[in-house]
Amino acid sequence: MDRTTQEETGACMSMAGHDEGFAAELRAATRSDHGENETSAYMAALVGGRLGGDEYAALIEQLHPVYELLERAAEALADDPVAGPFALPGLARLRALETDLAHFRGPRWRERVALLPSTARYCDRLRDVAFDWPGGFVAHHYTRYLGDLSGGQFIGRQVRRVLGLGEDDPGVLFYRFEGKPKDYKDAYRALLDAAPWDAAERARVIDEVRTAYRFNAEMAADLSRALSIEPAA
Ligand code: HEM
Repeated sequence: MDRTTQEETGACMSMAGHDEGFAAELRAATRSDHGENETSAYMAALVGGRLGGDEYAALIEQLHPVYELLERAAEALADDPVAGPFALPGLARLRALETDLAHFRGPRWRERVALLPSTARYCDRLRDVAFDWPGGFVAHHYTRYLGDLSGGQFIGRQVRRVLGLGEDDPGVLFYRFEGKPKDYKDAYRALLDAAPWDAAERARVIDEVRTAYRFNAEMAADLSRALSIEPAA
């Protein structure tokens, strides 16, 4: 295990948070919801090196409409003083996902994508809450992008290793950010801490992050069923 992986894993184990501000409160309050995602059969098989490119592409096919909506919502809320700044320059993932999908599925990849029922429900929820409720946008944005900058970096290394791809190769560009993930995470957590939300609004945001984690777990469960992936023995 390299140093970054150790840091990520160590940080994961101490996800209890510290009494420091909303970023720590949110992290601590949703720790077990995150755990369900980490241990899903699909994600465990992915990080365990048991999936090939085709099965990996099945995940990013489902993530594509999620990021499309998140990034459209970011545009819609760009001028909102609270939500706007969370869309940090360099975070957007949609173009990378599209390049990765073209790598695995060919230039006409869009024609064969079939949304899983959980993805369709996830997208409905994003349409309902991420476009005109700043806290709802931040809840969903946080769940995906802070994840991509955190455990996502570990997942990316595993996927690259298994598929024999380098950091700059199409197929795994989704995981490559310009600059250090830690710098984005520090800036993101500072924004969470600075959000002018009272206790009731913070509780609503935490609830919505739980909802977002649940959609991700349901998507992983749907993928396991669709691809007949069994939990590791
Ligand atoms: C095998 C799957 C996964 C592994 C191994 C994993 C691992 C981790 C680790 C180690 C961290 C802490 C890193 C740090 O503090 O710097 C983390 C944070 C996080 N992960 Fe995951 N993760 C997985 C799946 C997911 C999924 C599916 C999501 C959501 C869609 C997600 C969302 C997050 C978020 C939002 C954080 C940041 C928590 C915070 O600091 O506020 N993770 N993950």
